[in-house]
Amino acid sequence: MKKIFSPLIFSGLLLGAFLSPVFTLHAAEKPSMPALKKYEVKNFDYLLGKIDGLNDDLLKMHFKLYQGYVNNTNLVLQRIQELNESGKNRTPDFAGLKRILGWEFDGMLLHEYYFENMGPNKILDKNDALSKKIEADFGSYDNWKADFSATGAMRGIGWVVSYIDPKQGRLINEWINEHDLGHLAGAVPLLVMDVFEHAYITQYGLDRAKYIDVFFKNIDWEVVSLRFKKAKNS
Ligand SMILES: [Fe+2]
Repeated sequence: MKKIFSPLIFSGLLLGAFLSPVFTLHAAEKPSMPALKKYEVKNFDYLLGKIDGLNDDLLKMHFKLYQGYVNNTNLVLQRIQELNESGKNRTPDFAGLKRILGWEFDGMLLHEYYFENMGPNKILDKNDALSKKIEADFGSYDNWKADFSATGAMRGIGWVVSYIDPKQGRLINEWINEHDLGHLAGAVPLLVMDVFEHAYITQYGLDRAKYIDVFFKNIDWEVVSLRFKKAKNS
């Protein structure tokens, strides 16, 4: 008769019996989630006094609104983590926070793109790769600008984003409703314009067309062109 209870099997069983409580203990413990790294408010005070047509009072108010999105993004993410850790994530509170996260996050990020692509006007050189791309996709800068401006003139509150799409590398001017509706998946924002009324109403009332003119006088094309180069290389 064959030996079916070899010393090797016996020692394995012994080791298993010894380790079993250890593994059971670890399986029962739920690892805690790592501490969240907070998003930092960026300082755009360097734009004060530098935007031809937008005064400092309006800009300061706008910076404050932006800071609210940063703070709320941090708060929402923190609260979501707390609900996950306490096992209360199958709740209306959790669902509500998940639904609002994109709105707060996009509100934060779009403002950063917007302020970063503004400044004392730096022109777009005709020989710049972005100039050539605009001409290739729209026929001319004027055609592209007309499409961008008409998108911004649409009724409603939101943003205009000139994107590079990830499928064909095409330039597309897109309307974003509020902060979170209409983004093109995987597309890279090149130029971002805020058309919420708070961006201009204290100076221009409801004359959004005037504000769009002012915006175009204050685009930092160096920043926009650099975004395009990065998008092309990625
Ligand atoms: Fe805004």
